[in-house]
Amino acid sequence: MKLWGGRFTKETNPLTDDFNSSIHFDHILYPYDIKGSIAHAQMLGKQNIISEAESRVIVSGLKEILSDIEEGQVEFDVSAEDIHMNIEKLLIDKIGEVGKKLHTGRSRNDQVALDMKMYVKDQIQSIDKMLKNLQQVLYEMAMEHIDTIMPGYTHLQKAQPVTLAHHLTAYFEMFKRDRLRLQDCYKRTNVMPLGSSALASTTYDLDREMVADLLNFDSITLNSMDGVSDRDYAIEFLSALSMIIMHLSRFSEEIILWCSDEFDFIKLDDEFSTGSSIMPQKKNPDIAELVRGKTGRVFGDLIGLLTTMKGIPLAYNKDMQEDKEAVFDGVKTLSMCLPIFTDMVKTMKINKKSMYLGAKKAFTNATDAADWLVKKGMPFREAHGVIGKLVLTCIEKNKNIEDLTLAEFNEISSVFDESIYDDITIEACVNNRKVLGGPSPDAMKKVLDINKKYLMES
Ligand code: ARG
Repeated sequence: MKLWGGRFTKETNPLTDDFNSSIHFDHILYPYDIKGSIAHAQMLGKQNIISEAESRVIVSGLKEILSDIEEGQVEFDVSAEDIHMNIEKLLIDKIGEVGKKLHTGRSRNDQVALDMKMYVKDQIQSIDKMLKNLQQVLYEMAMEHIDTIMPGYTHLQKAQPVTLAHHLTAYFEMFKRDRLRLQDCYKRTNVMPLGSSALASTTYDLDREMVADLLNFDSITLNSMDGVSDRDYAIEFLSALSMIIMHLSRFSEEIILWCSDEFDFIKLDDEFSTGSSIMPQKKNPDIAELVRGKTGRVFGDLIGLLTTMKGIPLAYNKDMQEDKEAVFDGVKTLSMCLPIFTDMVKTMKINKKSMYLGAKKAFTNATDAADWLVKKGMPFREAHGVIGKLVLTCIEKNKNIEDLTLAEFNEISSVFDESIYDDITIEACVNNRKVLGGPSPDAMKKVLDINKKYLMES
């Protein structure tokens, strides 16, 4: 018979068991469910809602169940619906009648809210660690490539020279914000819902603060109806994960471009590449492509849960069981993507020469040539026009700007003199961008110092 079977006269249809039960995915919540139940039982004992002796029996029963599960001795039962009732049933089987007292003053509604919050808190910490590892790798690569000049793009057209360090620290900044988002979500997840019970709280004199303390929550929820039906934290978490994988996807796209023959900026390590079943010469960036591809499913997890939650009346409704697979899938996907992506980036070989030559092409020093005219007193908009003409001449003559003779410069404007050449070398274009946030080695070193401190402190 079901734990809730009292008012039923028939067994559930096997289709109902299969459809309704969540044990095949929520079983991963068992450590949280057991920890939460232990705290609840200890509190019930301390409050004399059950006796201290009963509380102790329940707690040791729960601890045994934890090790039974960990040793692979437990087979969950689909007719017991979910992890919460499976564990309660195991407890009653193990310790008998007293096990039936565990659920006093509690509902599965606040129980599942508690378990999920504990799970999300743990996952936030674990994903944050993975992000930090990636940042560490980016920091070390940036340190190595302060002087590695490469083209910077807008519209995927060569725009101005930057450095590889500058490019990589752009991602470092994105991951900083991602980590802040996770930490922020953590704060709102860190509010303990137990005591909300089914929806209207409970008539027992529960010590909710004690449970919060035992389970390392910062505070307790202040409205029992919200306590059982809030899934904002799960949505926020999926939104933070979506942002992370969106960043990984942009980076993946660049890696895919960079290792193409057209760019030839990097070579991926064999360990993180794959071959073709027909074309013997091929080496494909499957890992980066898969990370880019998996972005779609994490966005799907987010949009799925948002859509599930829209239009659900207060308080708990079974729709909310759908939060689990979305959140679990988001976690699983990021937990797979982040470590492999980190190792792939760490082991890729940089083709400095190709980056440098790429940066020299396509008149990436045109802005600097215009800036030189401005320094000579020409208004910027006029200088822009002069250099535009200069570029046209270069295209006709198939030359770079720096390869024009002074006479050719002067045909366009008499203002040019020999010193123009110093300002339009590719190195000068990078080195003169000294403003904080820019690519010059001077500016970059300052930012890398800040990032080093950040890594030590965060
Ligand atoms: N398995 C359910 C879930 O994940 C637990 C809560 C069920 N509560 C209920 N009253 N049916 O949401």
